[in-house]
Amino acid sequence: MRTDTADSRPMLMWAPWRAGDVFAAYEQWRCEHGAVSFDEETQSWFVVGYATAREVLSGEGWSSDPLSSPVVRDTLAAHGIDELPLGGGMLTADPPDHERMRGAVRDVFTPHYIAQLASGVEAIAADAIDLLPAGEPVEFMTTIARPFPVAVIAEWLALDPATTRLLWDRADELVRLLDGVIGAELTVGTLEAMSALVAEFLPLAASRRETPGDDLLSLLAADRELALDEVVANAVLLAIAGHETTAGLLGNALVRLLAGADGTRLADRIGAVTPADVDEFLRLDGPPQAVGRTSTVDRCLDGRFITAGERVVVVVAAANRDPDVFERPAEFDPSRRGSLHLGLGFGRHRCLGAALAKLEVQIALTRILDRDPVLVPDSVSPRPTSLLRAPESLTVEFRR
Ligand code: HEM
Repeated sequence: MRTDTADSRPMLMWAPWRAGDVFAAYEQWRCEHGAVSFDEETQSWFVVGYATAREVLSGEGWSSDPLSSPVVRDTLAAHGIDELPLGGGMLTADPPDHERMRGAVRDVFTPHYIAQLASGVEAIAADAIDLLPAGEPVEFMTTIARPFPVAVIAEWLALDPATTRLLWDRADELVRLLDGVIGAELTVGTLEAMSALVAEFLPLAASRRETPGDDLLSLLAADRELALDEVVANAVLLAIAGHETTAGLLGNALVRLLAGADGTRLADRIGAVTPADVDEFLRLDGPPQAVGRTSTVDRCLDGRFITAGERVVVVVAAANRDPDVFERPAEFDPSRRGSLHLGLGFGRHRCLGAALAKLEVQIALTRILDRDPVLVPDSVSPRPTSLLRAPESLTVEFRR
């Protein structure tokens, strides 16, 4: 892996992501171009229809390895990168390697197993939220939303304090791995942060392989089907996949809950936060806007001919508001039944941490609402990138 001094530029900056209101832009795109269309600028097919999105994510003949697409390979090569910083783990693996890696930890990410972690997650949420002062402005993203998921996964992986510190100190750089943004000053910091993290994880993984404990890293390390570098790649993936995603969902959901005047706010209407509420937040406000695939075969998709090697960007955030599937798609309605939202993906790569993310968000939002927060006017600023839609910062004041 190497870097050069090429100008920083987005790898996947699609026109609608530059719009102020991305959801209006998705709608316009859907209306003008249909469910599947080719974007010259990014040389990618964009899928915005729900049924087609599901077809791609659950179908055969698709690769999750970005390097299987010549367009991605060329873009990365233009920046002197020949290896993916977050490669080597299950997220970018295809069968049979994908099943082998995911199989090592699948059993502890089931909703049943995750439910047993609830009291530990409650304790971490209490630490993060209960001691904050009332009647003073609190910057929510850095004080609660980002540290909370880091603390949960660090405890489950049983990371030592130095590795946890590194994870937290370099989180800003590491999150760019999930942003689809590649460029000189972005990659240098990010690649350095990634190398530092791998260097911390390697000895930890080796020692847990010899003497396993009952933590998540030991479970990965004890699986002899995985080479040690695969243990490290997947542990690092687990360590960072849930940060900005969970933090962003907390931020987006809190804005939705608190926007409006007293009495008209969603927070004042819903009472306790339920699992169905969290699913509706994921449908409407899930931070990842899209996931990528490469077609490994020539195929017809919704009337368009896609050749092997072409890149397909499945815009899950647009599919989640497809009016053919979701009535009144922009409305918050937790009583929706039937179609599953795609905010956590779909098919074999559907978010491994889905149950944990939902539990964390439900627990944290419930505790936050107990403190009777108000949103400080004009305090919400968005993250400057496209693939993860979330607040960069937002300020609340607790009334108790
Ligand atoms: C609200 C929070 C989260 C959101 C919105 C989210 C979203 C997603 C999405 C959309 C995917 C599918 C990627 C694809 O199809 O290419 C994914 C995969 C994944 N997520 Fe999450 N995620 C969240 C939290 C977490 C947490 C807390 C963890 C772990 C602790 C986690 C671990 C993973 C892993 C390991 C994968 C790869 C699964 C595979 O390739 O089989 N995620 N996530």
